[in-house]
Amino acid sequence: MYTQGLDQAGTDEQIAVETDELLSAFQERIDAEEKIEPKDWMPEAYRRTLIRQISQHAHSEIIGMQPEGNWLTRAPSLKRKVILLAKVQDEAGHGLYLYSAAETLGVSRAQMVADLLSGKAKYSSIFNYPTLTWADIGTIGWLVDGAAIMNQIPLCRCSYGPYARAMVRVCKEESFHQRQGFDIMHTLCRGSDEQKAMAQGALNRWWWPSLMMFGPNDSESKHSAQSMAWKIKRFSNDELRQKFVDATVQQADFLGLRVPDDELRFDEDSGHYRFGEIDWQELFDVIAGNGPCNKQRLEKRRQAHSNGAWVREAAQAYASKQASRAAA
Ligand SMILES: [Fe+2]
Ligand SMILES: [Fe+2]
Repeated sequence: MYTQGLDQAGTDEQIAVETDELLSAFQERIDAEEKIEPKDWMPEAYRRTLIRQISQHAHSEIIGMQPEGNWLTRAPSLKRKVILLAKVQDEAGHGLYLYSAAETLGVSRAQMVADLLSGKAKYSSIFNYPTLTWADIGTIGWLVDGAAIMNQIPLCRCSYGPYARAMVRVCKEESFHQRQGFDIMHTLCRGSDEQKAMAQGALNRWWWPSLMMFGPNDSESKHSAQSMAWKIKRFSNDELRQKFVDATVQQADFLGLRVPDDELRFDEDSGHYRFGEIDWQELFDVIAGNGPCNKQRLEKRRQAHSNGAWVREAAQAYASKQASRAAA
């Protein structure tokens, strides 16, 4: 299997063989809802788009362990600690499935990790916000994993087979994550005034960044139209954001919490909640590396990577010892 950087995929030679016949046969397979598998012919741009999307998704799972890992030692009971530990471990598992799915497209895991650690590759903007109270852990499960489910359920039908299949199990686990978060919020909202205030404070801080998770408005989203045509994406950013708002506002009502948006109202005609304008500058700043925790998150990941060097070396030494024994 050859390896390549995210930007170097596709030599002139490879692009030159993308004849109209090949491209239209590929699109016909997509239109017929056939799954594209690793050894099938695919346009170089399709391969590059998937490498970018799946590796960003994998990086998000891995970096996403940090804000919650921050509360493992401070969870309020043994039960909450065990649940949170299982949840954070699930996220590590999601990262690993996704790195494997991306590897089927010809990029190496070492290359993807190097691109994350150098700051070249992106991960979800949401994980650059701090977790200040225990209610943030509830809010992350409820809103962030909730938004992830909205995004990922349609990915179970993505045209690329390995990504679609990885998403089936990931989505089952995300559903557990969302419920554990909602359960934390439900408990806090039935608790003391202080606990309710803590829940409201966390919702105030996480609401808008959660809406930003769906990405820019459709009109600004440069990869959307092609990804929809290739059936990598099934719904647009704005459609998914609307589904999320419609589901979540009612959950907030049930909890007795107020969504921090003065313009939020139910529109009888459309059957949807209308909401205020997102502060896009904030999203672009966070993506550009200037969110509250970007530096801390990357620094911690670099440290974890170098702390793990001896494990990789030991595994490699063991593998080569086994290989030389087998050859003898
Ligand atoms: Fe996950
Ligand atoms: Fe999750």
